[in-house]
Amino acid sequence: MYVYVSSSMEKIELLQSVSLFWDLPNEQLGYIAHQMIPKKYTSGEYFFLEDSEGEQCFFVIRGSVKVTRLSKDGREVILAILSEGEFFGEMSLLDGDARSANVIALEDTKVFTLNRQDFLNVIKENPLIAIELLKVLGQRLRKSDRQITSLSLSDAEKRIALCILRIADEQGTIQRGLVSIIKMPIQQDLANMSGTSRETVSRTLKLFETEGFITRDGRKLIILDYKKFGREFDF
Ligand code: CMP
Repeated sequence: MYVYVSSSMEKIELLQSVSLFWDLPNEQLGYIAHQMIPKKYTSGEYFFLEDSEGEQCFFVIRGSVKVTRLSKDGREVILAILSEGEFFGEMSLLDGDARSANVIALEDTKVFTLNRQDFLNVIKENPLIAIELLKVLGQRLRKSDRQITSLSLSDAEKRIALCILRIADEQGTIQRGLVSIIKMPIQQDLANMSGTSRETVSRTLKLFETEGFITRDGRKLIILDYKKFGREFDF
């Protein structure tokens, strides 16, 4: 990780991509931007470890990260993938407890950080941010509820399909009925998101392709008939 320099104007422009700040007038955004420190992390680098003390909140400006925990038998479980415009590290600042999970860069990633006291002050002083924050936390809870339900399914094929549908909901773009996911997670990460092995993911993706549900080109995945795919595997 290294700290880099960014002008105030540039910081404000970049912060405008963070949904938490969408309703804020530029003047207030400028004030918050002033307190933020821009940092760069390389692919695979840890932002922090589960159970460490929370000192900062992170806002993703470029790139993406995975939020993980280790299962009892040492397997990585991916709770979420967060990308541009999203934030993480807020939970331990809000409840004063330790970090609830590990966060690791999935690619070279630029973030802005805000330290604990500045983060808490920003929330206290801006009810619009507090409401937006609650909205995002509510959405994350909904996603986690869906993930718990889907992980309880005994059928790995279904779990992988639901995982693809979830990524499509979060990152997909629709064009003439086709839903494209430009940068799918690597197969091992897909496996860790859907509680199965990389081999099963590889086999299942091939099966979905043969059955005409998807096509793939490198990291790009297209769902050919989103409704049909959803009907087949959703519950
Ligand atoms: P914190 O507990 O400080 O550190 C780990 C961070 O991961 C946590 O704050 C949240 O920002 C993020 N996080 C934990 N669980 C989830 C989840 N289910 N979905 C999205 N983000 C999460």
